[in-house]
Amino acid sequence: MATTHQVKIITQDDESVSFECRSDEDVISAGLRQDIYLMASCREGGCATCKGFCAEGDYVLGKFSSQALPYEEEEAGEVLLCCCYPTTDIEVEVPYTYDRISFSPEGLSFEAEIVEIAQVSSNVMRLLLQRTGEDKQVKFDSGQFFDLEIPNTTTTRSYSPANTANKKGELEFLIRIVDGGKFSTYLKSDAKIGQKIQVKGASGIFGLKENGFTPRYFVAGGTGLAPVLSMVRQMHEWSEPQKCVIYFGVNTEEEVFLLNELESLAAEMPTLELRICVWKYAENWHGEKGSVVDILRRDLRETVAKPDLYLCGPPGMVDATFAVCEEFGIQKERIYLEKFLPSGS
Ligand SMILES: Cc1cc2nc3c(=O)[nH]c(=O)nc-3n(C[C@H](O)[C@H](O)[C@H](O)COP(=O)(O)OP(=O)(O)OC[C@H]3O[C@@H](n4cnc5c(N)ncnc54)[C@H](O)[C@@H]3O)c2cc1C
Ligand code: FES
Repeated sequence: MATTHQVKIITQDDESVSFECRSDEDVISAGLRQDIYLMASCREGGCATCKGFCAEGDYVLGKFSSQALPYEEEEAGEVLLCCCYPTTDIEVEVPYTYDRISFSPEGLSFEAEIVEIAQVSSNVMRLLLQRTGEDKQVKFDSGQFFDLEIPNTTTTRSYSPANTANKKGELEFLIRIVDGGKFSTYLKSDAKIGQKIQVKGASGIFGLKENGFTPRYFVAGGTGLAPVLSMVRQMHEWSEPQKCVIYFGVNTEEEVFLLNELESLAAEMPTLELRICVWKYAENWHGEKGSVVDILRRDLRETVAKPDLYLCGPPGMVDATFAVCEEFGIQKERIYLEKFLPSGS
């Protein structure tokens, strides 16, 4: 017979919420059953959105990806709440504020219509959605992501908008086409203008952090550019004065996208510098030659004032860039990152 334990979730602003969790259910599911919507996305241990630190009590963990919760973090007491089964009462500290917890399903999901689908590079498509209904507003913090549901299925995938929160109801996504991928195949073959898509969110804690006038360096691998662009556009809207640099890395020149948009933004934003990095470049490529990791290392070698770092993209690129930041003595607390982990990895 299932036993019951108390879960206390403590948020970054020292608020808390408590609820019951049966020994046969994970913490996220227990919250949902009681209309407490903690931050979560894949709910299968793959994305790290539900990560917290267990300060009190014991638990067992179900199956999860070592990319989402590396061994050292697991040993240090970090947990993925979607695969955390308490065996005693537990207290978990989460890295977000109380207002990020929802207490009703309304407001979490909405319908949007496809208004544009375009191929923007050899392997990336741009998907523009428009929220339907009376309340058009889309609220999110730049850097957060939404879960999009493939129509007539229950399959969802996470994508980060490249635009900023707005009252018009527009969401701009940059989506890398993965061979045989479910959402990729839908987007390439079945998605049509006017089709409705269910959208859930926003989720995630990746986003701009206040740190005075410290420069911000953004490192994006492929479509990791989406949340980076959103954050830099947000800085532009807020007229933030500090220097920022976008390192945008792709494998070949054919994979570069939104170059005109990036150059227009840099022309309007004197604080912004661009480093478009192509790894396998042709002789006539005018941008940076090499990987984002190499180009960042070169710049950090010459930089006196250490910047804050924002890293986003494939896990391998994020890990390699993180190591370079540590090599140059940038404190862990000033490196913010989001890994585009494949679903169900
Ligand atoms: C928080 C978050 C935000 C994200 N934001 C974006 C975004 O803005 N833009 C974007 O393009 N993607 C983003 N992703 C990744 C996205 O959610 C999907 O995982 C990706 O688009 C693949 O989905 P799919 O359904 O096409 O492929 P799936 O059906 O999930 O996968 C098919 C196969 O491809 C493999 N695969 C999946 N993704 C990759 C990959 N990246 N590299 C190599 N193999 C892979 C899988 O392991 C599987 O074998 C984000 C992921 C997370 C967790
Ligand atoms: S929601 Fe827990 S790892 Fe994705």
